[in-house]
Amino acid sequence: MPKIAYLNSRYIKFKNAKIHIEDRGLQFSDSVYEVVAFYNKKLIDYKFHIKRLKYSLKELKINFSFNKNKLQNIFEKLIDLNHIKNGIIYLQITRGIQPRDHVYLDNIKPNVIIYVRNKKFHYPNNNFKGQTAITYVDLRWKRRDIKTVSLLPNVLAKKEAAKKNAYEAILVDNGKITEATCSNVWIVQKNKLITHPSNTDILKGITRETVKKIIKKNKLILKEISFTKNELYNADEVFITSASSFVTPIIKIDSKLINKGKIGNISLQLATLYSRLFIDE
Ligand code: PDD
Repeated sequence: MPKIAYLNSRYIKFKNAKIHIEDRGLQFSDSVYEVVAFYNKKLIDYKFHIKRLKYSLKELKINFSFNKNKLQNIFEKLIDLNHIKNGIIYLQITRGIQPRDHVYLDNIKPNVIIYVRNKKFHYPNNNFKGQTAITYVDLRWKRRDIKTVSLLPNVLAKKEAAKKNAYEAILVDNGKITEATCSNVWIVQKNKLITHPSNTDILKGITRETVKKIIKKNKLILKEISFTKNELYNADEVFITSASSFVTPIIKIDSKLINKGKIGNISLQLATLYSRLFIDE
């Protein structure tokens, strides 16, 4: 369990970090969040997560402004206070507290919650394994580009995956693959990399953007177009990306083996190049 959390300008014991029952985040999912990974105490892609956080706040008209450097100091202090080397920072900003009403008040004060958790990351080394996934219907709303805590469809899908001992649930919307419950999905088709375009149908993953830069640098071919469940099943390779999963190859989806159940070369290459950005092993 984490030792110290940050709640509205105060560092307090994790077990004492509590929020009011009329917080709008609790009652309406009226709240945004970010998950930032750190390795050897160094934040990964911090400035891009902050940019997306600002976007989410703006899209939901949550009145909260902050200083990027001060927030970084808070993140780093929490990492130190909790004595964690590798892990993730969870940040959530709720619109605030008011008597329950669908109509939000403009002058309420947002609640800011930040804490860190230890995490063992999965990246190419001796026991780098491919993972399995299921497909599941995408039941989400139409603004998936905003990182809100409105995650019930994701939660239901991921529980189905867990019941089947699968790592992720890949979401299917009208026959097309959007993304997964907490990661972006990629396929390799004849050496071409394909992922859903970043519009309102998916979250524009920060890891996705970093992997795009690696792809361009290495002169691989990238296509941001949507693809079908059939194309997913028949892809040469499949992998997912996220702050907590890095680049994770998927070698089985439902009952279908991908690349005969082995990690593909391009997935391995990208997973290696990605992890080398901050891990030198
Ligand atoms: N999830 N798509 C969805 C629906 C996500 O929730 C996430 C991240 C991603 C990948 O985004 P990024 O590369 O910025 O982590 C894509 C986080 C890790 C979570 O909810 O725990």
